[in-house]
Amino acid sequence: MKYKVSAPSNIALIKYMGKIDANLNKPTNTSFSMTLNHLLTFVEIEPNAHSEDRWELLKGENLYPMSLSDKGQLRFLKHFQFLKQHFKVENKFFTVRSANNFPSDCGLASSASSFAALTQCTYEMFSRDKKLDLRTLGELSRQGSGSSCRSLAGPWVLWGEKGIEQVKLPYGELLHMAVVVEDEKKLISSSEAHKRVSHSSLFVGRPERAEKRVQQLLQAMQTKNWREAYEISWAEFWDMHALFETCNPHFSYMNSASLSVLRSVEKVWEEKGDGPLCTMDAGPNIHLLFRPEQKQMLVEFNNQWKNQYKVFANGMA
Ligand code: PMV
Repeated sequence: MKYKVSAPSNIALIKYMGKIDANLNKPTNTSFSMTLNHLLTFVEIEPNAHSEDRWELLKGENLYPMSLSDKGQLRFLKHFQFLKQHFKVENKFFTVRSANNFPSDCGLASSASSFAALTQCTYEMFSRDKKLDLRTLGELSRQGSGSSCRSLAGPWVLWGEKGIEQVKLPYGELLHMAVVVEDEKKLISSSEAHKRVSHSSLFVGRPERAEKRVQQLLQAMQTKNWREAYEISWAEFWDMHALFETCNPHFSYMNSASLSVLRSVEKVWEEKGDGPLCTMDAGPNIHLLFRPEQKQMLVEFNNQWKNQYKVFANGMA
């Protein structure tokens, strides 16, 4: 029997950066994200007649061809084997197929959506009557990729000491746009970044700063103080990028194109007294979040950048 599921990616406004336990992907601080329901990974699992698990590209309409490196395939199948062990089916073998509905070579992290989809699909296939609660499922998923646990619920998810938790906010789901200024494979992986940041002098106090920002951001969102939410999100991604720039050896994802897009966001806020929330992941690309009634602004940003860079947005239709 074949099982197939999809899971969305997510973008954190308060970042998971640094681990207290690298083997279990336990974070040093609470993070907070919005799931991106237009950026999906599909995973299909089917028993095979081989004596090993295999990965293949899933084919289908609206799915992008992608290649997963040998290392990527190993990591994906290693998580699958961990899940098989959990569900006590380690002596059976399967073909795991996966693909995204967005190009994987474009700097939009797909590890959150792919590990969440793999965890969800394995759970649905093997848990039989045993229902797992969201937290337990999150605990399983985070062992594949930390941020993937936040993709199991939505739109707003907190991931803290006690696991993941869905949060209700008056804004609901916002419109999302990613301006992809560079789509090269990252030279420093996020796993390496997690390790290196602990050697930055700015890491002292980082967990406390992040925890404080989580509380401030939730308060701003709950009271619909959009500008405050923008300021907090802005300070937060700079905090993470400052860690990258100050660890030893230091590294950088930000480039001049990232800065141009960031300056255009500041300009809009300055001119209109309103604008999108803005953040960056561990990469050079810019993520913008708009309230539904700011749709025209999203269209204007799209028009401004679409000829220079790849732009992915929902809410354009
Ligand atoms: O899930 P990982 O180990 O790839 O960590 C990624 C963490 C960031 O994307 C940089 C930030 C976040 O909270 O999503």
